[in-house]
Amino acid sequence: MSENKENTMEKIISLAKRRGFIYQGSEIYGGLAGTWDYGPLGVALKRNIEGLWWKRFVTDREDMYGMDAAILMNQDVWKATGHVATFADPLVEDLKTKKRYRVDHLLEANGIDPKGMKLEDMDKALKEKGIKSPDGNPLGDARQFNLMLKTHMGAIEDDSSISYLRPETAQGMFVNFKNVVDSFHPKLPFGMAQIGKAFRNEIAPRDFIFRVRELEQMEIEYFVKPVDWETAFEEFRKEMWAFTNDIGLPKENVHELEVGPEDRAHYSARTIDFEFDYPSGRNELSGLVYRSDFDLRSHSDGSKVDLSYFDEETKERFIPHCIEPSIGVGRSILAVLTSAYTEDELGGETRSYLKLSPKVAPTLVAVFPLLKNKPQLVEKAREVYGMLRREFGRVSFDDNGNIGKRYRRQDEIGTPFCVTVDFDTVEKDGMVTVRDRDTGNQERVKIETLKEYLNGKI
Ligand code: GAP
Repeated sequence: MSENKENTMEKIISLAKRRGFIYQGSEIYGGLAGTWDYGPLGVALKRNIEGLWWKRFVTDREDMYGMDAAILMNQDVWKATGHVATFADPLVEDLKTKKRYRVDHLLEANGIDPKGMKLEDMDKALKEKGIKSPDGNPLGDARQFNLMLKTHMGAIEDDSSISYLRPETAQGMFVNFKNVVDSFHPKLPFGMAQIGKAFRNEIAPRDFIFRVRELEQMEIEYFVKPVDWETAFEEFRKEMWAFTNDIGLPKENVHELEVGPEDRAHYSARTIDFEFDYPSGRNELSGLVYRSDFDLRSHSDGSKVDLSYFDEETKERFIPHCIEPSIGVGRSILAVLTSAYTEDELGGETRSYLKLSPKVAPTLVAVFPLLKNKPQLVEKAREVYGMLRREFGRVSFDDNGNIGKRYRRQDEIGTPFCVTVDFDTVEKDGMVTVRDRDTGNQERVKIETLKEYLNGKI
């Protein structure tokens, strides 16, 4: 990580806290590692991103079924999918401090690429190179650490009451495959889509909201005839690129990575990771996976419920195959904030601001009366504010401090447009000043055409 980029991450974290986007979880009690709380602006940004996803992948399509499944699931779900046995990361313990580290991260930090290495190879590499913990202490043996967060349901804490907080939203859809088929009789190909929380007991949560223990995913399980998997894979590959554009990520900062067989998840027959250039380096943003018939077959076997599909046209019965585009909400937000964070000079002053796309900005327009102590200006500004709020929703009113300060405040939270009501507005021409966040340019616009003017900009 370059010093410059390290600074960028610190600046983003600081801005996110100061301006009410994202706070450390349980902060007043010293925090809880790997948890973050979204404040008023963060939740607005998050909802806008999720809304764009839902529009592109669900409501704009005729072949998608929305879901909202329970987070707690029967433990047999996770036995059937192999998560209980294999959903693990390699861990090693500092023998003195008892702090735990991801073995692959330690190898990377010591110039060894862990890609494709089995646990034994990693353990061997640690020992051969004499790698110590970051505190300089000897390390124990590398072992696998299951990432699922476990809890007990009901009054008795024994093996039968174990439940897991789902580590992916995906399984909430696979276990409802038959329900959706029985209720809607969809023809293949069709998909199930959901946005929701997932939990992973990450060994080393890090890089702000990049690697957390409580996360949110936007996932689709798209079911196809086995012969059609490549067509669907390519379709969603394009759609994932289109979504990065929807949320305003520059194309040059997003990269595809074809994941080799040795590094794919246990359920994957093909994976493309979409990576982003975060301040902490290039890393995964989202993934596109061909899960074959792994999940429906595993649940058919595990539950003894037949999850095959009957094709009315060909009179064939088979288990559909599945393509899964999976996008992390938090990582999308971090990518959006990273892309938007800008420092420049405007009117002889340096400023830092968020160059957010109008589609995702928490506030689209801020409305000001030029002076707060002039009732006729405040009244007119409130009228304009009400009109814009009814049209766009994401509109705020600000009469604190001078206009310059108000612009800085709105720039910092990424508001693309500021509208000012002045004396000319009420006494002369019924026009307001619209100021553009990125250029600082100002235009006079008639109040009657303001909605149309702004609609033309988003
Ligand atoms: N259902 C497939 C699945 O869960 P994954 O690659 O493990 O696949 C999908 O996760 C996406 O979820 C990732 O691309 C990433 O965006 C997000 N994600 C996974 N683990 C995360 C974590 N600990 N913190 C933040 N986001 C995470």
